[in-house]
Amino acid sequence: LSANGLLLIVAYLLGSTPTGYWLGWGLQGIDIRQQGSGSTGATNVLRVLGKGPAILTLAIDIFKAVAAIVLVRGCYSRSAIAPFIPNSVDPESWLPWMVTLAGIAAIFGHSQSIWLILKTKDPNLTKGGKSVASALGVLLAMAWPVGLGALGIFAIVLAIFRIVSLSSMLAAIGVLALMLFTHQPLAYCLFGVAAAVYIVFRHRANIQRLLEGTEPRLGQKLAGSV
Ligand code: G3P
Repeated sequence: LSANGLLLIVAYLLGSTPTGYWLGWGLQGIDIRQQGSGSTGATNVLRVLGKGPAILTLAIDIFKAVAAIVLVRGCYSRSAIAPFIPNSVDPESWLPWMVTLAGIAAIFGHSQSIWLILKTKDPNLTKGGKSVASALGVLLAMAWPVGLGALGIFAIVLAIFRIVSLSSMLAAIGVLALMLFTHQPLAYCLFGVAAAVYIVFRHRANIQRLLEGTEPRLGQKLAGSV
C-alpha cells in the first residue's frame, strides 16, 4: 500500500465520522436515520435534535474534512511522503491532485460512512449525510476564497427561500464558477465539478420534494418523514 493510498484511506475514515448519528444516539437514544429526512447531516440534526446539536454536527463535519486536507498538505510539506514518490514525479505537481482526491474521499466518507455501512442491515437507511458540510470543509482548506464564496451563495439563497437543500445545491453548483474566477488549479476545478455532481445526486429526494412543493423550510418538520 503506497503512502498516497494510505492518506486517501485516512481521509475517507475522517470523512466517515458519523457525528449526527452519534449525537442522536448519545443524546436521545434514537437513530437519526429513522427521523426527518433520514440524513445524518446538520440540517436533519437541527430538525430532530435542535440547535445546539446541529451546530456541533456542522462544526465537526466541517472540521473533519479540513483535517483530511491539512493532513495531506502536512505530509507533503514535510516530505514524509517523498520516499514513496517515484523520482520522475515532482511532489509539488502531485499535491493539488492529492488534495482533490483526499477531498473526494472525505466527502464520500461522510455520505457513505464505513461505520454506518458496517452496522446497517436495512437498505432503506442512509449511510450518512449529503456531503454539504464536509465539502465546505474541503473547500475552506483547499482554496478558502472559494469556500467563503460558496458559503456566501448558500447564505443568500437561504435568506431568500429558507430552504437548506436548495441553498446547498446552488452553492455546490456555483463552486466551479468561483474556482475559475479565482484561477484555481485544474485539480481543484475538477473537485468542484465532482462535488457538485455528487451533492446534487445525494439530494434526489429533496429535488423530488422541491418539485412537489413539499420540501420543508429551515427547521420545519418533514411531512411523511422516514
Ligand atoms: O446538507 C443537507 C441539506 O442540504 C439537506 O438536508 O436533511 O433537508 O435532506 P435534509
